[in-house]
Amino acid sequence: MSFRHRALPEIALSEIDTSVDFLGRRIALPFFISCMTGGSSEGFKLNKDLARAAQELGVPVGTGSVRVLLEHPELDEHFALKSYAPEAILLANIGAVQLRDTLPERLDDIMGRISADALVVHINPGQELFQDDGDSDFRGLKSAIAAFIARAPYPVIVKETGFGLGPQDSRFLLEAGAAYVDLAGSGGTNWIAVEGYRGEGEDTAASREFDGWGYRTAPLLAASPVESGRILASGGLRSGMDLAKALALGAHAAGMALPLARAASEGGAQGAVRFVRRLERVLRSVMLLTGSRTPAELQRPGVLTRSTAFDEEARGMEWPLG
Ligand SMILES: Cc1cc2nc3c(=O)[nH]c(=O)nc-3n(C[C@H](O)[C@H](O)[C@H](O)COP(=O)(O)O)c2cc1C
Repeated sequence: MSFRHRALPEIALSEIDTSVDFLGRRIALPFFISCMTGGSSEGFKLNKDLARAAQELGVPVGTGSVRVLLEHPELDEHFALKSYAPEAILLANIGAVQLRDTLPERLDDIMGRISADALVVHINPGQELFQDDGDSDFRGLKSAIAAFIARAPYPVIVKETGFGLGPQDSRFLLEAGAAYVDLAGSGGTNWIAVEGYRGEGEDTAASREFDGWGYRTAPLLAASPVESGRILASGGLRSGMDLAKALALGAHAAGMALPLARAASEGGAQGAVRFVRRLERVLRSVMLLTGSRTPAELQRPGVLTRSTAFDEEARGMEWPLG
């Protein structure tokens, strides 16, 4: 998969506009900081740094799961990131199982307490199966998510956590009214592997059998209903070129988790800003060198060339079983 270079692009760098609408607001880059943490002192520090970076960059920022706030409202400040990012879009996070098993009013209350703009619901059956005290009953999640979206007074985004949401599930969630579906495909953080390494030898051995599990983000995007304009890409994106390719494949915006955690833990908020500025520089350069003034123009057919093998992999991601 590579971009077609245009030696005569006939545009100026100053004409390039990377901004897009996101939840009805304008963001500077089609990029967001994926949901990660909160609830511990290290998590709070990371959230503060990421929020400050999001404010400076003009991009949305996610928190980790707010589940802890159901029992510990004293930790609200770890998630109430508007103090550090008053203008950034703040995305709160909760697991689909907790969503199913919690009174919706309790989540509404948390959303109000931390002034979040949208709730991101994560689905992570793989990780739960390999967690010591993880959930093992995933019945009723589809209807619980649909019912929650139907009544939620705020936008709801639904994501996986690194194995990908298949096209069938994305279509279901979009029809149920999810504002966006974040594919969160494989190629980055593998949570079965992380949980497996935390366990004993046999746990690790069992988890290793899932090393290649899940949908790779790039072909998954090609197989997803991107024409809806409501598909977000994440999972294993590591560079500005990855970001540009995700957008060219039709993602409305793309996110990263681990690279931002690394950049912020090494260099604080400014480390995260520097990392995203590099992504931005690469994206702008790709846009210029492909003659694309906007992210929408980057999605014109033929800007990105794809191999037959890639398209075949994408076609194989259609789930035939309904
Ligand atoms: C340290 C860390 C913590 C995470 N915690 C959450 C979480 O609480 N909720 C969630 O939806 N996803 C969580 N994720 C998953 C990410 O949001 C993302 O979907 C996944 O890591 C793939 O992105 P990446 O390859 O850029 O890391 C976490 C990821 C990392 C690295």
